[in-house]
Amino acid sequence: MKTLADLITKEMEQAFQAAEYDAKFAKVTVSNRPDLCEYQCNGAMAAAKTYRKAPFMIANEVVEKLQDSDCFDMAEAVNPGFINLKIKPSFVAGFLNDMAEDAALGVEKESEPKTILIDYGGPNVAKPLHVGHLRSAIIGESVKRIMRFKGNNVTGDIHLGDWGYQMGLIITELEKRQPDLPYFDESFEGEYPEAAPFTIGELEEIYPTASAYAKENEEYREKALHATFLLQNGHKGYRAIWRHIMDVSVTDLKKNYKNLNVEFDLWKGEADAQKYIPGMVEALKEKGYAHYDEGALVVDVAEESDKKEVPPCMILKSDGAALYDTTDLATLVEREELYQPDEVIYVVDKRQELHFVQVFRCAKKCGIVRPETDLEFLGFGTMNGKDGKPFKTREGGVMRLENLIREIDDEMYKKIMDNRTVEEEEARDTAKTVGLAAIKYGDLSNQASKDYVFDVERFTSFEGNTGPYILYTIVRIKSILNKYQQEGGSVEGLRLCEATNEFEKALMLETAKFNEMIDIVYTEIAPHKICAYIYDVANIFNKFYHGTKILTEEDEAKKGGYIALLKLTKEVLEICIDLLGFEAPERM
Ligand code: ARG
Repeated sequence: MKTLADLITKEMEQAFQAAEYDAKFAKVTVSNRPDLCEYQCNGAMAAAKTYRKAPFMIANEVVEKLQDSDCFDMAEAVNPGFINLKIKPSFVAGFLNDMAEDAALGVEKESEPKTILIDYGGPNVAKPLHVGHLRSAIIGESVKRIMRFKGNNVTGDIHLGDWGYQMGLIITELEKRQPDLPYFDESFEGEYPEAAPFTIGELEEIYPTASAYAKENEEYREKALHATFLLQNGHKGYRAIWRHIMDVSVTDLKKNYKNLNVEFDLWKGEADAQKYIPGMVEALKEKGYAHYDEGALVVDVAEESDKKEVPPCMILKSDGAALYDTTDLATLVEREELYQPDEVIYVVDKRQELHFVQVFRCAKKCGIVRPETDLEFLGFGTMNGKDGKPFKTREGGVMRLENLIREIDDEMYKKIMDNRTVEEEEARDTAKTVGLAAIKYGDLSNQASKDYVFDVERFTSFEGNTGPYILYTIVRIKSILNKYQQEGGSVEGLRLCEATNEFEKALMLETAKFNEMIDIVYTEIAPHKICAYIYDVANIFNKFYHGTKILTEEDEAKKGGYIALLKLTKEVLEICIDLLGFEAPERM
């Protein structure tokens, strides 16, 4: 379906042409003076230069051609040459009725769907998930849903950090504690045990202990590095331990991400890319892209127009070890082989931008991806505490994700119980649903690249620009619709009517912007614009609600029109929050 703005621009184009001006001047935009008009056209100003005529005269001539338009109620030329517009209530109602009949509420699918791979989440196995991983999960999940909603073929890949030094540390610490395990017996020939020699709780304790100890004990550190090296070179016992670490951690990660309503199609990781490294290195050398520099194998990626130095991409260290660059390049080799994506979007902390500049340039230069493959870095800012510094626990440590979520849920639970409308058990469930919305909306309402302050009190408030406020609005609409049905009405097959008051008109116009908004969010990859939109819709709806007798309206047709508008508003809000990755409870 066309957007409302497109439809009225078209009408305006005809008027410009009828007045013998070029249609290119006819662009219509939402009014920046909502007290005077709903939409406006500033084209007469630009046309004035081309036609050497006063803009007001042009505006007047155009306005004359709009007098019996189906679309405009008011078209008025004002000084120095603006055209102020109000849309006919019947036109808006017609648009919304078409929209209500469409399964995607007027959003058109991509005409040439793309294969898109989104690399997000990126947790490091065996290290606890912390708030730094929260943003990647929240933003990535939303971007995935938006791309999918537009009809693309989208795959989300968690890209686990499962191949690093942390593995060597765990192996070393495990050997210290349980030296008799068969994994450490070089002459062991049998089958290794199926059960892991640790629980997730133990694993979470082993890693930080080992990591701290390695910092003060050189010998231990060397051992851990060597264990990492042996693991990466196929040591049988260490591989078996690695499997155990993976099984135990991935089970735990799945639980955590499920609680966040975040779902990955692929659970691949850095380890999966390793087998592509030897072939890739050979090819880079053979085709002359890579050269040795002080023993290290590198690919130059600097460009003349660089304002800051872009160092070469590091393929192999002088001891032959692979690096972060290597793994990301090999992952692209793998992705090209298995999925041939048209676009790969990386949702990663913006402090890693340089790494991705190097990797992308190298991948293009060396033909690891096709020239037309779109490699996109979506860097996000830091989540800060109220003191403006990276978010910490009260004790000053790194805040674990689970604890953060618990803190929000408890706060929500208190607020819900204060309202005292639901039983305790329901309040617990509702607190989880609303708590997740508080976290996700608090994050997504900021432009991803910006740092933001994580403010539990503000995010959990039922008032203001918050997730709970949006949910509260949806719940309010649901409850009106339920009541209408309890009183014998059916919400199916109702048609929206022409607006009869300004609040209703405002809500209709705002709802009508849905498909236009989604297209902007999609092209700009900007979930924060969904938040801004639904905040406007919620505010306008609440004004309408307070200013209108809905269920007590006596004129049945009018009441049916209200209900149809409510139903559509609810659908718009529900699609939007689904794209943001959360949902609304039945009551709260
Ligand atoms: N595991 C990394 C970290 O915690 C993030 C991975 C980002 N994705 C990637 N393809 N490099 O910093």
